[in-house]
Amino acid sequence: MRTALFPGTFDPVTNGHLDIIGRALAIFERLVIAVAANPAKGPLFRLEERVSMMKAAAAPHDGSIEVRPFKGLLVDFARELDINVVIRGVRGVGDFEDEFRMALANRKLNPEMETIFLMPSEIYTYLNSSLVKEIARLGGELAPFVPAPVAAALRAKMGDVK
Ligand code: COA
Repeated sequence: MRTALFPGTFDPVTNGHLDIIGRALAIFERLVIAVAANPAKGPLFRLEERVSMMKAAAAPHDGSIEVRPFKGLLVDFARELDINVVIRGVRGVGDFEDEFRMALANRKLNPEMETIFLMPSEIYTYLNSSLVKEIARLGGELAPFVPAPVAAALRAKMGDVK
């Protein structure tokens, strides 16, 4: 069974990430969604919260996906799971240079590791998690950007931090 790994911080998961998940599942039979601890990024949501939001958001794909937290290097986690294909979404030329560098570094660390870049639908090319958090902080409409359970979690979290 062909399985790929889709890593990210997912702080929080957005409709753009879900678009990539749907596209990846049209190519691969199974997808492990790897939620990175990534403390350097100072995430708003704890790792367990990001994992459970991803599980709720990707529930329509239950049976073909598994959501797993990970700490440390992506290549080590991939090796542990015996997966050598990584999926990354590229929203435009702005993403490309960093993604290219990361893919080459991962391949240097594990020569068997391949990275496949997928383009999200053009309606999500502007979207990122920081934008969604800012909209939530300022009380804006979240429905166009994130699935309902994530919108609820964002509102609860913003209530916590106010
Ligand atoms: N739709 C909407 N937003 C998207 C998106 C899409 N399709 N694809 C990416 N984004 C957003 C993300 O939400 C994120 O937004 P933010 O910066 O506002 O939080 C931004 O684009 C960058 O996302 P991404 O490139 O996926 O970075 P990330 O921080 O989410 O994930 C890891 C990066 C976790 C994959 C990477 O740091 C990693 O592998 N870490 C493990 C340690 C390691 O191995 N390091 C060496 C790598 S060579």
